[in-house]
Amino acid sequence: MSLLLSSMTENVGLITLNRPSALNALSEKLVKELLQALNEFDSNPEVGAIVLTGEGKAFSAGADIKELNDLTFVNAYMCKFLQNLNDGIAAIRKPILAAVNGYAASILLGGGCELAMMCDLIYAGETAKFGQPEVKIGTIPGAGGTQRLIKAIGKAKAMEMILTGDFITAQDAEKAGLVAKVYPVDKLIPEAIEIGKRIACLSTPVIVMAKEAVNQAEEMSLKNGLLFESRLYHATFGLNDRKEGMTAFLQKRKAQWSNS
Ligand code: HXC
Repeated sequence: MSLLLSSMTENVGLITLNRPSALNALSEKLVKELLQALNEFDSNPEVGAIVLTGEGKAFSAGADIKELNDLTFVNAYMCKFLQNLNDGIAAIRKPILAAVNGYAASILLGGGCELAMMCDLIYAGETAKFGQPEVKIGTIPGAGGTQRLIKAIGKAKAMEMILTGDFITAQDAEKAGLVAKVYPVDKLIPEAIEIGKRIACLSTPVIVMAKEAVNQAEEMSLKNGLLFESRLYHATFGLNDRKEGMTAFLQKRKAQWSNS
């Protein structure tokens, strides 16, 4: 039985982690299915953006502790599950919007908070809570928590969350810059899909270049990042959609994107 649901709303792919009885804990099977669903949407020309959410009260309570419990050092070290999740999501070209309902409690093997941070944008329901509670079960974040959280909210707040395991609210996560916007719980998914549609209605190659350039800011020095950005900016001049966008603006009409 599949552990996730996958559907399309116009040009937006919607993936719902569907293991609510275990708060969408990220088992190895669920991660494999997630990567497969993301790749299917990524290669579908009808899809311009992907929304990822969780069924029930949790986006994801993190890695499946039952699967982790009996791991030895060697098992954990040799297991590619975590690397596959990080690399697999990084390889998705189209924007992924995490719509975080309920808790997003992150744990070692690609936990919920870490999974959300691998996405390009995070929207949260007003009751969502974010945490890195690994220290409470004798380990530390292992899917980017110590690295991405610092970049998202700064060392002071990230260190406090990681050392205490305390949760922060969606509102605090928004103030700190982890979350783009907080919505009432019942509006979260429709709003995330609406934003996904607005992104998907633009030129896909332009959106993919913009995402790639922004993501490079976390990897590169400012000098190299500026060079990377300007090369992609120059590359947009090879697109029909760049010509169409500027021409449409000058002719005061709506652009007709051809994704070319
Ligand atoms: C497997 C999980 C799970 C997880 C919850 N469940 N989280 N199963 N892996 N990560 C299961 C519970 O065992 C329970 O199953 C069911 O989901 C409902 O969970 P409850 O605890 O009863 O719900 P609630 O009281 O609402 O508490 C919600 C919660 C809590 C605060 C999110 O579930 C929780 O603390 N979960 C663990 C999340 C967490 O701490 N993650 C980070 C830990 S650090 P049954 O069958 O009993 O109904 C970490 C690091 C791992 O995990 C590092 C490994 C190397």
